Amino acid sequence: MAPEAAAVSEPEEQRVSGIGQRKADHLAICANEDVGFRHFSTLFEEVRLVHDALADLDERTVDTSCTLLGKKLRAPVIIAAMTGGTDEAGSVNRELARIAEEKGLGFGLGSQRAMLVRPETASSYRVRDVAPTTLVLGNVGVVQAKAMSNDQLRALVGDVGADALCVHLNPAMELVQPGGDRDFSGSLDTIARLVADLHIPIVVKETGCGLSPEVGRRLRNVGVQNLDVSGAGGTSWVGVEAKRAEVAGDSASKSLGETFWDWGIPTAASVALLAPLRFRSLIATGGVASGLDVAKALVLGASAAGIARPILKALRAGGPAGATASIDAIVRELRAAMLLTGSRDVRALGRARRVIKGELALWIDQLSGH
Ligand SMILES: Cc1cc2nc3c(=O)[nH]c(=O)nc-3n(C[C@H](O)[C@H](O)[C@H](O)COP(=O)(O)O)c2cc1C
Repeated sequence: MAPEAAAVSEPEEQRVSGIGQRKADHLAICANEDVGFRHFSTLFEEVRLVHDALADLDERTVDTSCTLLGKKLRAPVIIAAMTGGTDEAGSVNRELARIAEEKGLGFGLGSQRAMLVRPETASSYRVRDVAPTTLVLGNVGVVQAKAMSNDQLRALVGDVGADALCVHLNPAMELVQPGGDRDFSGSLDTIARLVADLHIPIVVKETGCGLSPEVGRRLRNVGVQNLDVSGAGGTSWVGVEAKRAEVAGDSASKSLGETFWDWGIPTAASVALLAPLRFRSLIATGGVASGLDVAKALVLGASAAGIARPILKALRAGGPAGATASIDAIVRELRAAMLLTGSRDVRALGRARRVIKGELALWIDQLSGH
């Protein structure tokens, strides 16, 4: 059953009618333009794993499997939330969900906002026929969730057969987006309601600016158990919106976006600072570029890593075979990192020794315990 449209107000409906174009812009900009962070990184380069020259392991038996949000994955990797709402988005979702099923990875749907007022777009989010056993994550913005009833949100998840609902936080991107959301009040209360009432696993997710330990504590205090840090250093969503503002001739928004292009908490810092809070799942998305980064994220305390734009680019450049090859490379690199740190499985990898240097050490030193 698709969520009812009736509870969505008129101005919201007008905004949502622009979603198709925005989704198309996002896919095109992310696939074709340079929207990575410019001067700052994830800080994964500040983590050195300790080489084990005497690993007592057979590479063929290294076990990359893990359990995330109640489902078994063959590797601790999620194809992170990207799209939905248009025919093109539907093809991307189906192609990537099929690969997630084949490789035993998790798969995130993009924001399901479009389904709210245009139920006919629901098919672009439905991937269960090609990904029957995959961990599939639904997605909604916290600002939209605030305006929705529990029944509407349950219907959103139920319609696509998702295993959990990601509630995304994206204030920086919205501030730069011409006509974007400006009112973020009540976000924590909304999340508290969803956690208490929905009886569906909730993942609170940023979109490229990271989550601080203070935000982690506030979320944990209202019962949140799963986070996706989606930190800084990969795709700049402020940058994506700055590009859109430029095309729209909105020089004020473009200028705001240029100033805040590199805003956010680096992914590695976010993971390292949140790990001591012991969330049930801590997903490291944002600029994860290799299986070595996945390994570093797990050593810092993540349960899994998420990858968005690099997989979209691989899909655009080489079709499903290209995306599959990029995922195979990541898993190969992860296996190598596990063998070379003497880690038999992902639990052992989580205990592997590391040296943290430079700016990452500063983030940890100055924000730990605050
Ligand atoms: C084309 C595209 C669309 C995205 N749309 C969403 C979305 O609808 N909801 C969401 O939570 N995150 C969305 N994201 C953000 C990603 O899930 C991820 O948090 C962010 O891009 C950082 O990861 P990356 O550096 O691997 O791209 C999108 C990312 C891309 C590339």
